[in-house]
Amino acid sequence: MPAFGLGTWRMGEHPDHFGHEVDVLRTALDLGVTLLDTAEMYGEGGAEEVIGEAIQGRRDGLFLVSKFYPHNASRNGVIEACEGSLRRMNCDYVDLYMLHWPGSVPLAQTFEALHELKDSGRIREFGVSNFNLGDLESIPEADQQQLGCNQVFYNLAHREVEWEVAPWCQQRGVPLMAYSPLDQAGSLLQSPAVAEVAERHSASAAQVALAWLLHQPNTVVIPKSVRPERIKENLAAMEINLNEQDLSELDNAFPAPAQAVRLGMR
Ligand SMILES: NC(=O)c1ccc[n+]([C@@H]2O[C@H](COP(=O)([O-])OP(=O)(O)OC[C@H]3O[C@@H](n4cnc5c(N)ncnc54)[C@H](OP(=O)(O)O)[C@@H]3O)[C@@H](O)[C@H]2O)c1
Repeated sequence: MPAFGLGTWRMGEHPDHFGHEVDVLRTALDLGVTLLDTAEMYGEGGAEEVIGEAIQGRRDGLFLVSKFYPHNASRNGVIEACEGSLRRMNCDYVDLYMLHWPGSVPLAQTFEALHELKDSGRIREFGVSNFNLGDLESIPEADQQQLGCNQVFYNLAHREVEWEVAPWCQQRGVPLMAYSPLDQAGSLLQSPAVAEVAERHSASAAQVALAWLLHQPNTVVIPKSVRPERIKENLAAMEINLNEQDLSELDNAFPAPAQAVRLGMR
C-alpha cells in the first residue's frame, strides 16, 4: 500500500464542482499520487463518481480505497454496496474495502461477505475504520490476522490511537491509515512548535504534520485537498526526515496519551 494518498471527503457533493474535482484528481495522479481514499458516504456516492471519471484509462498502478456504511454491513448488504462502488468508480475491483465504523450487524456476517468479494476478485484486501481495541477484538480471530488496514483519526494533536490501537495493529502487521492528518487544517497548522520545526526544514506546517505521521511505524497518510499546489506541497512531505530534536519538540508540544482513551472520530 502506498504511504501517501489523497482523501476525497467533501468532494462529489455539488454538481457544479464535478469538473473541477475531476481535474484536481487527474492533476494529483500526474503529480504521482497513487492512492485515492473514498467512501460510499462521501457525497452519497458523488465522490466515487468523481474518481470514476478521473481514473478512466489510468486504473493500472492505482490503489483505490473505499468504505461501506455500517447499515450495509450484512451478508448481502456488503456485496450490494461494493457493486455500487465499483459501478460508480467504473472499475472491476477495489484495492482495499473497509467497514466505515463499527455498527450493529454481527461482524461474522460482514467478514463472510468480504471473503466472498475477495475470492471473486472484486476487492483485493479488506479492513476496518474507527475501530477501538474492543471493536478489533470482536473481529473473528482468523480475520484479525488478515486485516489490510484500520483507518483512524490520527494526527499530531490527536494521538489517542497510540495508547492501545496502534500497538495491537503493529503486533499483527495491520497498517494504520491516518485520516484527518492535518486535523482538518485547524489550530495544529498554527502551532508555534510545528512552525519552529517547519522553519528548520524550510517546510510548511502541513508538511511537518504529515512528515511526523509518516515517521510513525506502519502509518499511511491521506490528506485531502482540492488545490493542486497543496497536493504537491503535501506529497513533498515524504522527502522530509525529522530528526531527534524535531521529534522531541513535537512530542513535548503534543504529548502521547498517558492513560486509556477512546479514539476520536470525525
Ligand atoms: N474513516 C473516516 O471516518 C474518515 C473521517 C474523516 C476523513 N476521512 C478520510 O481522510 C481524508 C482526510 O481527512 P480530512 O479531509 O477530514 O482532513 P485533512 O486532510 O486533515 O484536512 C483537509 C483540510 O485541509 C486543507 N488543506 C489541505 N492541504 C493543506 C495544506 N498544505 N495547507 C493548509 N491547508 C491544507 C484542505 O483544504 P483545501 O481542500 O481547500 O486545500 C481541507 O480543508 C478525508 O478526505 C477522507 O478521505 C475518513
